[in-house]
Amino acid sequence: MVPLMCGIAGYKGTEDATQVVIEGLRRLEYRGYDSWGVASINNDHIELFRREGRIGQVSISRIGRSSGISIGHTRWATHGGVCESNAHPHLSFDSKVAVVHNGIIENYQELRSGLQSRDIALQSQTDTEVIPHLIALELTQDTSFAEAVRKACLRLKGSYAIVAVHQDFDEIVVARDGSPVVIGTRMDESDKEFFVASDVTAFLDRTKEVVYLRDGDLAVINSSLEVRRIIDASHVDFKIETVPWSLDEASKGEYHHFMQKEIHEQPQVVVSALAQDDSALAQASSWIGEAGRVIVVACGSSALAGMVGQAYFRSLAGKDVQVVLGSESDSIIPCLSSQDVLIAVSQSGETADTIHAVKTAKAKGVRLISIVNATGSSLSRISDIVLPMRSGPEICVVATKSYISTVSILARLASMVAKTDITSFSNLSTSMKSLIASVEPQVAALAVRIAKSKDIFVIGRGLLYPTSLEAALKLKETCYIHAEGFAGGELKHGSIALIETGIPVIALADDSTRALIVSNAMEVRARGGWVIGVDTKPNEAYDVFIQVPDLGLLQPLISIVPLQLLAYHVAVVKGLDPDKPRNLAKSVTVK
Ligand code: F6R
Repeated sequence: MVPLMCGIAGYKGTEDATQVVIEGLRRLEYRGYDSWGVASINNDHIELFRREGRIGQVSISRIGRSSGISIGHTRWATHGGVCESNAHPHLSFDSKVAVVHNGIIENYQELRSGLQSRDIALQSQTDTEVIPHLIALELTQDTSFAEAVRKACLRLKGSYAIVAVHQDFDEIVVARDGSPVVIGTRMDESDKEFFVASDVTAFLDRTKEVVYLRDGDLAVINSSLEVRRIIDASHVDFKIETVPWSLDEASKGEYHHFMQKEIHEQPQVVVSALAQDDSALAQASSWIGEAGRVIVVACGSSALAGMVGQAYFRSLAGKDVQVVLGSESDSIIPCLSSQDVLIAVSQSGETADTIHAVKTAKAKGVRLISIVNATGSSLSRISDIVLPMRSGPEICVVATKSYISTVSILARLASMVAKTDITSFSNLSTSMKSLIASVEPQVAALAVRIAKSKDIFVIGRGLLYPTSLEAALKLKETCYIHAEGFAGGELKHGSIALIETGIPVIALADDSTRALIVSNAMEVRARGGWVIGVDTKPNEAYDVFIQVPDLGLLQPLISIVPLQLLAYHVAVVKGLDPDKPRNLAKSVTVK
């Protein structure tokens, strides 16, 4: 199945709802940006505005103001191509119900056939469009709007976060099962406002008070907020929580892009990440120390951070830890038992493949530690111990500071299991800060040359092997350059056949790996490649030398930084948007 992300937003309050929703959607564009749309209730009818492409600086006067209720969506296409008719919101056959949806309706074909047999003409190729029709059909049975949405949800199979409005009802109904959605509230006596969004960054400028819905919840927002269970309409007590993030953290500030800002935040992020609750860390390290098997489950950069952690657990603590991709976990998770520990890593806390593995492991009684950034996310709520990344909002689609947080936390945990200290932790933040300041101009100049490359290889050994994989991933996704990371020793077992005149090879080295990496670099040069050495000391094998401070065991945390910056600057040279690479979205919420 194709991954689906998308951003949804809604507002009910006294301000111009369309304006509030558009602002929210702009902040959610990192979740999907191939088309977008808004439906606003205006004088008892629904005004629909949908467009292909990004929101940009669209003028509100073109969309139409609203009387206080609006919903919107920014799409990452799955079912149906990128065109206006497939963009959300979708309307019911009587044009009275509008729905935005994030997730996948797995039984949509069957539902579409059922609707067509009732002579309802479908206007799009999406799975979502069945939802407003089903709601409108339920409403013909003389029921309330919220009840109609609930009953429609009972017919859906798959995953969803749904926001629905009706032209004749002064309310917004939100349903969640398997896809994230959060409600923001501002409940001053005179001025009640409600915000709905895929994540809190959409409305952080307006409120930090939020209600996280659980799977199976249905929220009814009118003059107040009520939460029910979808299954039986039973009442649910909810909690209003305060988001620990500030708006500043979710804005670009003086930087050109979020990616650059987030790389520059890393020296502070390592300090925050290491400021964990001592008792949670102690409990986690004792579980890991005693466990039969320890598995890290994650996807993408989170999995690569897990591989650095694996190297720490093995080398420092003599504890074998395995890293399993969320999407490939089905063969191993069922083999685990209550003697084992699963460490789930996820910035968003919503990655469907990771959540699937976690749920399977929980059912086997496996103890679950999670390293997660998004407060209130699905992962944080099902874990036995949560070690928060404390990275602040990571808005750029490409992971940088969440990777750094995760590696820092795993290094700390491994040192606790080993009952040893990593002394270089005390220099990490200041070394990283001065490295960023000194290396960025050099890397920005190098980016002009690298931008012309079609292929790049990155090699490393030991702790720097997973770092080479992460560096290659940054270059691929940010600059659209074919990049591959290798263990230095593997090059001669096949991949060296790809080295030709002019191909850049980035060699990551430190005192413990330099001798062998230099041999690999010479092999590359003998075949016409040119070598960029990222090392603590210069070497004649390097055509270009990027000096990094020597941080011993923490070298993976420092050596990745110039390569994150390189990926950023190559994207800028190529005129690409590093914050929103093509075909990607931040949170992959279905399998
Ligand atoms: C790469 C990147 C992705 C994510 C992956 C997991 O830069 O951002 O590879 O790391 O989709 O996401 P989380 O950590 O949210 O589970």
